Amino acid sequence: MYLILLGAPGVGKGTQSKMLEEKFGMVQLSTGDILRTEITKGTELGKLAATYMENGGLVPDDIIVNMISKYLDDRDLILDGFPRTLEQAEALALILEKQNKKYIILNITLDDQLIVDRLCGRLICRSCGTSFNIKFAKPKVEGVCDICSGELYQRPDDKEESIINRLKLYHSKTKPLIDFYRSRGKLTMIDGNRNSSEVFENLVEVITKEIK
Ligand code: AP5
Ligand code: MG
Repeated sequence: MYLILLGAPGVGKGTQSKMLEEKFGMVQLSTGDILRTEITKGTELGKLAATYMENGGLVPDDIIVNMISKYLDDRDLILDGFPRTLEQAEALALILEKQNKKYIILNITLDDQLIVDRLCGRLICRSCGTSFNIKFAKPKVEGVCDICSGELYQRPDDKEESIINRLKLYHSKTKPLIDFYRSRGKLTMIDGNRNSSEVFENLVEVITKEIK
């Protein structure tokens, strides 16, 4: 089964994916994390992706679909950050049809201003990727990951200018996916404006019903 997590930047897709992985024994597949790993390794894909990601742009569809296709296998996956355009959703629909795969689509919602607040304060662990927040989810020791003691850093695209750009692209390119999936009767909306455990409980409730 694939769990497709939709939602604007900063709504909590990564935070919830990590909790859902543990709860349901699924594997998080974050296109953003895959691309950041390619950048760190200095691969050709990473160099190309960085030119789009730095300012909050989207990496072209053909590159993303080609990259992600290699990961869409028999495992139970949480798709975090893919699809993000109608072209990607069409490509995924073909893959799902071919694989005869069951899937659930959950769209997490949050107002833009709250998104900006969350992203400006986000810190991420370099080692295990856990997200913290200087306002909403403080690490116990400043700059240090609670889980693995790794170093915390701010993503280069979490600067206000890039965040605004990412939000604009979300509204023009990704939000239309809500209607795309709604028209196929396949979408559940989740209110992201609650604390992480409440959002998680809601997600678990919906997923448990769907997989029964
Ligand atoms: P990606 O890494 O996917 O970034 P994003 O979509 O912008 O989403 P984020 O990771 O910023 O937010 P999130 O929803 O995971 O929130 P989080 O849980 O961290 O993509 C990065 C870039 O890669 C894109 O801009 C693009 O360039 C490229 N890319 C990736 N996929 C692509 C694709 N398919 N096509 C084209 N290009 C692609 O939470 C955010 C903060 O809020 C954290 O600090 C967290 O601690 C806090 N928080 C979480 N939940 C709560 C809560 N309930 N209450 C209070 N605070 C909370
Ligand atoms: Mg994320």
